[in-house]
Amino acid sequence: MEPVASIVGAPTSRARAKKYFIETFGCQMNVLDSERAGAQLRRCGYQWTSDIEEADLILLNTCAVRERPAEKALVRVSEIRRRKKPGAIIGIMGCVAQAEGRRLIERAPDVRLIVGTQAVGHLAALVTKVEGSDEAVVDVRAPNRPAFDRLAPEERRQRHVAYVTIIEGCDKFCTFCIVPFTRGRERSRAPEEILAELQALAAAGYKEVHLLGQNVNSYGRSRRIEGRRMGFAELLELLAARSGIPRIKFTTSHPRDFDERIVRAIERWPQLCPWVHLPPQSGSDRVLAAMNRGYTAEEYLQKVALIHGASRDISLTGDVIVGFPGETDEDFRQTVRLVEQAQFDGLYIFKYSPRPRTVAARWVDTVPETVKTERLMELVEIQREVQRRRWQRYLGKTIDVLVEGRSAKSEKHWSGHTPCHKVVNFESSMENLEGLIVKVEVTKINPHSLFGRHVESREGSTM
Ligand code: SAH
Ligand code: SF4
Ligand code: F3S
Repeated sequence: MEPVASIVGAPTSRARAKKYFIETFGCQMNVLDSERAGAQLRRCGYQWTSDIEEADLILLNTCAVRERPAEKALVRVSEIRRRKKPGAIIGIMGCVAQAEGRRLIERAPDVRLIVGTQAVGHLAALVTKVEGSDEAVVDVRAPNRPAFDRLAPEERRQRHVAYVTIIEGCDKFCTFCIVPFTRGRERSRAPEEILAELQALAAAGYKEVHLLGQNVNSYGRSRRIEGRRMGFAELLELLAARSGIPRIKFTTSHPRDFDERIVRAIERWPQLCPWVHLPPQSGSDRVLAAMNRGYTAEEYLQKVALIHGASRDISLTGDVIVGFPGETDEDFRQTVRLVEQAQFDGLYIFKYSPRPRTVAARWVDTVPETVKTERLMELVEIQREVQRRRWQRYLGKTIDVLVEGRSAKSEKHWSGHTPCHKVVNFESSMENLEGLIVKVEVTKINPHSLFGRHVESREGSTM
């Protein structure tokens, strides 16, 4: 995909412009950080390329959340080293860069630039420094600064959907999770600043914004907030009322902090999309306590009941970890029960793997790999059936779809997302629908997407 951003401050001679390539792993925060990095590079004269072999600067934006992330990044570095042109600089950014720092250079001397999660806003200066030196450049400043920068609409790569961070870091310290170490303490961004960013995006024609945070529900709780204090539900209502963005999504919700006010806000404001990603992680109270999640299975299901009991059809998704240290067969059966009861529209299931510096990494990883795999497969099957049944409710319905482009599988079809964040591929006789919100009648349910046809005259639903 070509960047849509204009090249601010780029040299007039295109032939001499240097080129950059970024590969992104992990969550939406990394996707946004890659956009921020690209904007910085274009400001100092670089142009984007999709061809790694012609790039002068190659950045890997890494995720540290699961198994052997540093090893995976280094394997990728050795592949890139063989394909890159002579003299091209390889850099590592993201959560592995933050967690490992200079150690990555000791293990892979071809890597000349390490950019931690808080240094993305300084990328242009770091690149200038590394270009003028034979030494590697490392910036892994502490991930606790309350700095948020605003990305102008024209500096973004996607034209219709924008990611906007509202809260950085996490104070929950779940015993399995590395994020508090790579993203630091919780810092909430000032509501006026978020509103201004969304208003600028609306004026530039953006149709959908994803509000990002490791735990968006604790927005405004941290002492490190800039400016006025405001809770998450209040922020949602402010943005729905005043931003001008037709579709607002948010992720991730934490079951401990998720409350009824958020459901009421979704009921009240059509701009707030009916989708909640609320990861339970486990259905066993014993395991939940060992994970330091701060709720029981029953309390989790009470939040789910609020969601399923809402006057709008709110789609629920989640994450589960199997094989946490000490997880017995009975603990796992309780997770199965929770998954059956919660009725997710989508569920990501992960095998536990120890992460350095976390509390659980000090415990013996008791569940054998084969058992982890069996549990994972069993849950996948159960969820497949739950999903197949639940998604039938869309059949024959007419839904609003934000068209993001042609379908990946077929040039004949268009593709986009529903307000409840499902992928819809559909047929249309119209020439160009990209960026429009159109009505699609669902004619077929696939395991992970919906299929339908464009209808031009009927009312849609905001499901
Ligand atoms: N902030 C989100 C999760 C961020 S990490 C939350 O609190 O839910 C995304 C997902 O990765 C988690 O929900 C969890 O299911 C999974 N995950 C995190 N650490 C993991 C580990 N050590 N092993 C396996 N899965 C893990
Ligand atoms: Fe990690 Fe827990 Fe924070 Fe989510 S809430 S980012 S799982 S520590
Ligand atoms: Fe991964 Fe960092 Fe996101 S560890 S999930 S890229 S915050």
